[in-house]
Amino acid sequence: MKGIILAGGTATRLFPLTATTSKQLLPVYDRQMIFYPLNILIKARVKEILIIVAPEHSGQFLNLLGSIFEKFNIHLEFKVQKIPRGLADAFILGKNFIGKDNVVMALGDNIFEDDLSDKIRKFKSGGLVFAKKVPDPKRFGVVEIDKQGRAVSIEEKPEKPKSNFCLTGLYVYDHRVTRIARNLKPSSRGEIEITDINKKYLEMGELKVEKIRGAWLDAGTYDSLLEAGNVVREKKIYAKMDPLIDQAIGLFNEELKTIAKKRLL
Ligand code: TTP
Repeated sequence: MKGIILAGGTATRLFPLTATTSKQLLPVYDRQMIFYPLNILIKARVKEILIIVAPEHSGQFLNLLGSIFEKFNIHLEFKVQKIPRGLADAFILGKNFIGKDNVVMALGDNIFEDDLSDKIRKFKSGGLVFAKKVPDPKRFGVVEIDKQGRAVSIEEKPEKPKSNFCLTGLYVYDHRVTRIARNLKPSSRGEIEITDINKKYLEMGELKVEKIRGAWLDAGTYDSLLEAGNVVREKKIYAKMDPLIDQAIGLFNEELKTIAKKRLL
């Protein structure tokens, strides 16, 4: 299983915070946002991860993550997405990286309380998406699910939602996703949509849905960014991370301290 984190985009809703750095490098309580999706992939024992970034802030991603996981046998690659063409672009940019493997893709601004690693590891083929029960499904991509856990329908921001389950920013596909993504046409808003990939797997009868528990946050606005920090602290989500993440951050902090001391000399 390969991993991709989609950490580009323009983050207009967070201006001016994102004039100086990328959304996914903003702090959520005690660490940068990107460590939360990284944790999902690392917990699922994914060893090869592609991080897709916008050109403006690519150097900052390298400064933070360029060598932090080297000692832990986790290989990170970076790719610049010049234009934010849509979420499905992850699988066009990631075509060679994915090759003939399965791939799990996490949005760089989504935070999950639930441990989804077993569900990711057990994936065999087709598509797998993760749904959260919400009180206001009209604002989201809504998925209807049958008793076997297969998707029956997907609708974007429907007037009359067929269920209370909305799709979250975590997706698992087999390697056919690269071909499906390449054949997509941009939507009316000019983006290639991940919902069209899901609809393709749905048509083929191969889209499974796992329901998630606990908090799910999309830290894309001032309020949801603040809420994300508060929820991470209250629910101690930072303490449920893979120990490897904390070890890597600990070593990185030691390096920073050594450099800071040298600067003071
Ligand atoms: P969005 O929150 O939909 O878009 P955005 O981050 O550009 O923010 P805004 O709507 O405020 O302008 O993106 C969800 C995630 O996907 C986020 O981590 C950014 C990433 N993304 C890309 O990397 N490339 C893209 O082409 C798009 C559309 C999003």
